[in-house]
Amino acid sequence: MREPQLTRRGLLAGGAATAVGALAACAPEQAVFSGRSVSGTASVGTASVETASDVAGGLAVEPFHGLHQAGIATPPQAHAVFVGLDLLPGTDREAVVRMMQLLTDDARRLTGGRPALADTEPELAVLPSRLTVTFGFGPGLFAAAGVENRRPASIAPLPAFTIDKLRKEWTGADLLLQICADDALALTHALRMIIKDARSFTRARWTQRGFRHSPQTQTPGLTQRNLMGQLDGTVNPQPGTPDFDRAVWVSEGPGWLHGGTTLVLRRIRAELETWDAADRVAREFTIGRRLDTGAPLTGRKEHDEPDFDRLTPAGFPVISEQAHIRRAHVQDPGLRILRRVYNYDEGLTPEGHADSGLLFASYQADVARQFLPIQKRLAEADLLNQWTTPIGSAVFAIPPGCSPSGWIGETLLS
Ligand code: HEM
Repeated sequence: MREPQLTRRGLLAGGAATAVGALAACAPEQAVFSGRSVSGTASVGTASVETASDVAGGLAVEPFHGLHQAGIATPPQAHAVFVGLDLLPGTDREAVVRMMQLLTDDARRLTGGRPALADTEPELAVLPSRLTVTFGFGPGLFAAAGVENRRPASIAPLPAFTIDKLRKEWTGADLLLQICADDALALTHALRMIIKDARSFTRARWTQRGFRHSPQTQTPGLTQRNLMGQLDGTVNPQPGTPDFDRAVWVSEGPGWLHGGTTLVLRRIRAELETWDAADRVAREFTIGRRLDTGAPLTGRKEHDEPDFDRLTPAGFPVISEQAHIRRAHVQDPGLRILRRVYNYDEGLTPEGHADSGLLFASYQADVARQFLPIQKRLAEADLLNQWTTPIGSAVFAIPPGCSPSGWIGETLLS
């Protein structure tokens, strides 16, 4: 029987400084793991339960503590749920502090493979499957907690775009709970435990579930495909590089957010029925990349640099002026956005059509400087707009991580 493990990828993902902090910080979880007997049982309260797993995946642990919250530089897990919560009227700063202390404690335990306090199904906590819990603060939280003067200006609803058909039920929220894991059961249990504690302070506005390839189906590090069949995530900042740190982690502006980031979450419906009707040439022309290899239309391999100046013999750009990758391209790698997207599929309409698309999660140090210019260019002209419609939108500040004795949000609220 294997012990729960800090994943090597998890440690590398956050960069060396984070990794060292995280290793030291994770000692409490490891102390618990060491209580696991070699015969394959784990302690849950006074009972001993079979871990029911000899598979490393179920026992894998992503570090909770560190300079940054987990779930951002972490290699994306197979499942995600994003929950938008609104604070109940009268929830003041003191209440928000209590809530964040409570929720941090839940997250710390569950991500370490330990039951939450008063966990009603403790056996469900022992296979965390790289569980991460990430918290974000929406505009309303700053007002409720009386710290409106510390809200970065861009933590606000995005300006309206002509392509938007935003629906209230997917838009805005005071508090974000992002839970990811390689196993849907681990994720759902964590959500239930954390929501039990959040209930006295909040009510749920929306719940958005997403998925990517399952672990063991794809070589780690390869780009995933989305439901439109495209390789999605080719050009993305790489964790552990200076460009990633510059693009993603806040190091300027309000000190309380240093080491944190911002999240723009867009729910984007994909019209799969009409997309299916487009031929392959049209689909590749739309993005500017091939469907099979993901290579730019001017290259042979996925990571070849696109040549935006190359012309066809007839004198037209090989990569169209309105191709998605041309419109979305950002030259300076330190100013790119981190796209950590999940597919969603909510079942069928009565006509048998898919209700699916992308939970487009974009992390960046600065929404105004990085996300908005790209979104503006795409809203003005992007061939992909014929098949995609933003139907939800929310913006959050993601506070930095915390130490084993700390809690998420302390730099803003304590
Ligand atoms: C359902 C909606 C969307 C789909 C299906 C989609 C799909 C894709 C695909 C297939 C690529 C090429 C491969 C890659 O580099 O990942 C790409 C690139 C990219 N997309 Fe999207 N995308 C969507 C929405 C958006 C939005 C809303 C934004 C930002 C506001 C965005 C920003 C980017 C960026 C920055 C790149 C890399 C461009 C470059 O080559 O430098 N995408 N997207």
